[in-house]
Amino acid sequence: MLSRLFVSGVFVTLASAVPSAIAPNYWFSFGDSYTQTGFDPTGVLPTVGNPLGNPAYPGWTATGGANWIDQATTASNHSLVLTYNYAYGGATINASLVTPYEPTVLSLGDQVDQYLAQPNVGSDNKIWTSDNALFSVWIGINDLGNSYYESGDRDAFNDVLLDNYFELVEKLFDTGARNFLFLNVPPTDRSPLILAYDASVQALLKSCITDFNTKLAQRASALASTHSGVKTWIYDANTAFNKVLDNPTAYGFSDATSYGGETDFWGNNLHPVSAAQVIFGNEVGNTTLANTVW
Ligand SMILES: *[C@@H]1O[C@H](CO)[C@@H](O)[C@H](O)[C@H]1NC(C)=O
Ligand SMILES: *[C@@H]1O[C@H](CO)[C@@H](O)[C@H](O)[C@H]1NC(C)=O
Ligand SMILES: *[C@@H]1O[C@H](CO)[C@@H](O)[C@H](O)[C@H]1NC(C)=O
Repeated sequence: MLSRLFVSGVFVTLASAVPSAIAPNYWFSFGDSYTQTGFDPTGVLPTVGNPLGNPAYPGWTATGGANWIDQATTASNHSLVLTYNYAYGGATINASLVTPYEPTVLSLGDQVDQYLAQPNVGSDNKIWTSDNALFSVWIGINDLGNSYYESGDRDAFNDVLLDNYFELVEKLFDTGARNFLFLNVPPTDRSPLILAYDASVQALLKSCITDFNTKLAQRASALASTHSGVKTWIYDANTAFNKVLDNPTAYGFSDATSYGGETDFWGNNLHPVSAAQVIFGNEVGNTTLANTVW
């Protein structure tokens, strides 16, 4: 519907206040290269028709092509979802606890700070509500990958990491976040990077990951039981990766260990290809987030 309005001597034609057909829901995402799309929070923001904002879809993903959050935002989504993806390649939870591969890497803490500083998102006059916003965190891959071989009690260090992780989750909660999706650490002990080492090295990383994931699930359920109004979902990425790696040909991949080839699961020695990311994104959308608006 159009209406005409007389302004400064001329008629201008206005779209009338037809109720908007599309009320978006929101997704604020934090993580590392497994999630990164290269989003710059000061650039073009997500809108209808461009639901992840900058850079152009699918963004700068670790091995090229859509990754899980691209897929879950645009294909296995249950509504129009606008995704602000603060994930940054190489991220650890806290660079003081585990040094990232480069000092310029934005840790989970830095990403949360970006979110907090973003106008209309982390600060006043929010475009979202507690009900229509999902907060996801997929972190820990680099924290464990960059520290599992160090001396000291690794399981105790996982508690330190998770203390920091959930302090940052608490900051999100304080802004009104109530819906949290946590993704656990996939079996990077089965990545070509780690397969290049002895079985004992792989076993060491695997046991760190298992302990971290067990404790992550406990933290998530504690968050829900101690914070009124909080709902949590966990995507068990570890099980999801193992399912594909245990039976790669059933999913169209050549094998579980090669990388860089057209039909390999691994796009490089640490990251799955887009075809694998799409499988995981669809599981998140179709299964983990089934019966939600996202
Ligand atoms: C999940 O969602 C995607 C996108 O809508 C769809 O293509 C796919 O068939 C669905 N099911 C599974 C099992 O992935
Ligand atoms: C999923 O997202 C796409 C891209 O924004 C949108 O075109 C589509 O309508 C959404 N699906 C549903 C079920 O709303
Ligand atoms: C990171 O860890 C250091 C050392 O434990 C701590 O002082 C700092 O507050 C942490 N940063 C964040 C954002 O949690």
